[in-house]
Amino acid sequence: MTMGQTVCFANNKGGVGKTTTAKCIAEAWARMGKKVLCVDLDSQANLTTMLSPIEPGEREVSIRDAFINPDLFTIEHVAENIDLVPSDLSLSNFDRDTASIAGREYLLLDLLKNVKDNYDFIVIDCPPALGLITYNAMIAADHLVMVTTADALSYSGLVMVANLFADVKSNERLNKGLKLTGVVVTRYEKNKLSELYLNKIKEELGQAFISPVIRKATKMQQAASIKQSIYDLDPSGKATADYIDVAQNLALRILQ
Ligand SMILES: Nc1ncnc2c1ncn2[C@@H]1O[C@H](COP(=O)(O)OP(=O)(O)OP(=O)(O)O)[C@@H](O)[C@H]1O
Ligand SMILES: [Mg+2]
Repeated sequence: MTMGQTVCFANNKGGVGKTTTAKCIAEAWARMGKKVLCVDLDSQANLTTMLSPIEPGEREVSIRDAFINPDLFTIEHVAENIDLVPSDLSLSNFDRDTASIAGREYLLLDLLKNVKDNYDFIVIDCPPALGLITYNAMIAADHLVMVTTADALSYSGLVMVANLFADVKSNERLNKGLKLTGVVVTRYEKNKLSELYLNKIKEELGQAFISPVIRKATKMQQAASIKQSIYDLDPSGKATADYIDVAQNLALRILQ
């Protein structure tokens, strides 16, 4: 039996589709019959808002509390085959709150250790920053998936993630086993500039690039605001079909 595989979705750049990608891939895997744990590591709590009927500020405990006191670690069941570790705004003080904890880069790894094998996949949504929280995610993960749009700023965010990845991987005490398993290009609209950046991404990160690109679709935004899965809201949509293919291809790579 394979053990639960932990996958983190990251880019230093904001608004590139990290959360949407984490959610759509998690939902696709759940529909394939896999058990998935979604971990929201962003104080904006977008993934929590999209997946759970409980609003971020309404919980007694969130992942921030579990980082301070592991006894408070709480998992919510949100949909068939999908559980959630929710976040809220209190996570924005993570650096200050954990300043006195020794080995604070291992907090997430420690929290997930005991539940990892209850799931086929653990999906981690990172904030748009490469600070201590994303560091925790990369140390806890088996697989890194970079998420990007095909443009200059998002691409330079990728370069920064690649540097952090190299840093984590090169250090025995951090996470030598971390693999760059995927690069997902989102919100794709074909034009000269996006083609240029798509080619650049394929050249630089060729092995990791996962096809197909996720095409731009207006229903994506709607699905997020009404807490619906795109597989229900827009089953014949372009981006829906793209995410199904990417989820399948990513699963194949992870499980090979
Ligand atoms: N394929 C798509 N087509 C159209 N809109 C999309 C697509 N994917 C994502 N979006 C929209 O783009 C916006 C940003 O997406 P998302 O929140 O997933 O990005 P993010 O990288 O997680 O942002 P942040 O850095 O703030 O966490 C959202 O409004 C989302 O609905
Ligand atoms: Mg996000």
